[in-house]
Amino acid sequence: MGHAKSFHVRFFTQSIRSLQEIYALDIPRIFNITESAHRIHNPFTPDKFATLGTALRLASGVRVLDLGSGSGEMLCTWARDHGIVGTGIDMSPLFTEQAKLRAEELGVTHQVNFIHNDASGYISDEKADVAACVGATWIGGGVAGTIELLAKSLRTGGIILIGEPYWRQLPPTEDIAKKCLANSISDFLGLSELVASFGNLGYDVVEMVLANQDGWDRYEAAKWLTMRRWLEKNPDDELAGEIRSRLSTEPERHTAYTREYLGWGVFALMPRLNLENA
Ligand SMILES: C[S@@+](CC[C@H](N)C(=O)[O-])C[C@H]1O[C@@H](n2cnc3c(N)ncnc32)[C@H](O)[C@@H]1O
Repeated sequence: MGHAKSFHVRFFTQSIRSLQEIYALDIPRIFNITESAHRIHNPFTPDKFATLGTALRLASGVRVLDLGSGSGEMLCTWARDHGIVGTGIDMSPLFTEQAKLRAEELGVTHQVNFIHNDASGYISDEKADVAACVGATWIGGGVAGTIELLAKSLRTGGIILIGEPYWRQLPPTEDIAKKCLANSISDFLGLSELVASFGNLGYDVVEMVLANQDGWDRYEAAKWLTMRRWLEKNPDDELAGEIRSRLSTEPERHTAYTREYLGWGVFALMPRLNLENA
């Protein structure tokens, strides 16, 4: 009995601890604030995801894994439009909740599943037909590491999707790269270099859909109204100063730098076929 009691106390304490860990698992709060009204957390617009879904020739029942699934727009709309089934993993509890609500709204809760967790190192039990990381390649420590990670969940003949920025124009100085919110020029490649890098990793680029400047505006400018309204409601919040400062500077920074210098696209990859006679 004494044993059973101490087991239960230990079990209870451990459960509380893991619940605390799960709740503590989050992205920096600033993103949960500035992107709280976003359905898509990258420079893609709904028509770009629709184009990508069609370009990939998705069929009913295709299994899609999405690491860093955000508010779930890609999986939910592809479930509605193409009948795919899928799992998304995201570290933001807010975005994960929004993804579940979106699945309800579109009537696809029986097709998609959203998990709040750190996707670093995530390998699915069931192999995916499409394994994606659309704008979160730090999850695998960069593009190469993320491709390697996604490949572990991919069925033979499946497709990997990588969403990644590239330089539309090479910034002339490191200072300009920083104003595009890169750490340095070397963070990103030009478009043709990025495409070539997939080949160097042993992959064929089998499709690609690129964002445009309007898409960058949807991603960046949508934060400004969200920040303005948040400031009205939260003047005493510890992040109010930071948000105030961003609202003052972001429109000019975005139009002068990100919008001009950075491109963004989703690249569809398949392991390169080596033909003996080719
Ligand atoms: C640029 S957003 C892209 C979101 C989504 N793919 C989309 O297109 O809307 C990056 C996403 O990665 C999530 N994220 C960041 N670090 C993560 C991690 N270690 N594991 C899982 N998700 C992560 C963020 O919460 C955010 O939703």
